[in-house]
Amino acid sequence: MELEKVLLSRKSCRKFTDKPVEEEKLEKVVISASLAPLGLPRMCTPALTVVTDKDALAKLNGTYNAPALIIVSCPPSPAPGIGDQNAACVVEMMSLMATDLGLGNIYLYGVTAGLQKDTDLMAELGIPEKHTPLAALALGYGEEEIEICKEFVAKLPMNRV
Ligand SMILES: Cc1cc2nc3c(=O)[nH]c(=O)nc-3n(C[C@H](O)[C@H](O)[C@H](O)COP(=O)(O)O)c2cc1C
Repeated sequence: MELEKVLLSRKSCRKFTDKPVEEEKLEKVVISASLAPLGLPRMCTPALTVVTDKDALAKLNGTYNAPALIIVSCPPSPAPGIGDQNAACVVEMMSLMATDLGLGNIYLYGVTAGLQKDTDLMAELGIPEKHTPLAALALGYGEEEIEICKEFVAKLPMNRV
């Protein structure tokens, strides 16, 4: 897909079928994460935790029953907000790649907010020590066709100086 079409097609998916995500597609999504820009990369490189195990997924809240979830965690950041911003860049790169591959997907903060409070589950999932889960991408095959944006037009408030 060309980039403009991918951007117009990206929409949050909240209803997934049980169909698992093919390994090749998961791999491409993971690779796209490593192409994200990062602030303070030597100190604040995010790690990915790819969860496809059904029992593990069932322990997480707010995943919309997606068959795959990629959790992005970061070590403590020496500058405020860098970890969150790095996680956001990584999730968005993965979201656009997932969209290009025909996968329904959704950026999730809520699932990581819950996970932050459950250190046992963090350890069980293998979130690296001292990392905080900051954002996640749920992905799979959408139950319904998502209505895509038709016009490539600016919608956010903007001023020009
Ligand atoms: C930082 C961030 C956190 C989000 N967290 C959640 C979440 O926890 N649960 C959820 O249902 N959607 C979450 N979303 C998805 C937004 O609700 C969604 O992107 C927004 O409503 C716009 O819809 P669209 O993605 O279909 O364009 C999040 C999106 C972003 C960017």
